[in-house]
Amino acid sequence: MEKNEYVVIKAIEDGVNVIGLTRGTDTRFHHSEKLDSGEVMIAQFTDHTSAIKVRGKAKILTSYGEVESENRK
Ligand code: TRP
Repeated sequence: MEKNEYVVIKAIEDGVNVIGLTRGTDTRFHHSEKLDSGEVMIAQFTDHTSAIKVRGKAKILTSYGEVESENRK
């Protein structure tokens, strides 16, 4: 994925967490954003962020398509 591409995350329940993970040899959480139902976050991959983890039920749109995160069953 190009670093300047956007990822759209739409929460479909309260308390969805969007977590940014650091780029480089040390992979750790550097930011956590909490979204409530209906809230949307538009994010990019950057020099500081190489991965994004979504916890909770959300719709995620990228240039690869659309995917839905879920809660464990
Ligand atoms: N300061 C972070 C950065 O520039 C902000 C950020 C960008 C971010 N994309 C993110 C935080 C995705 C969480 C998830 O890398």
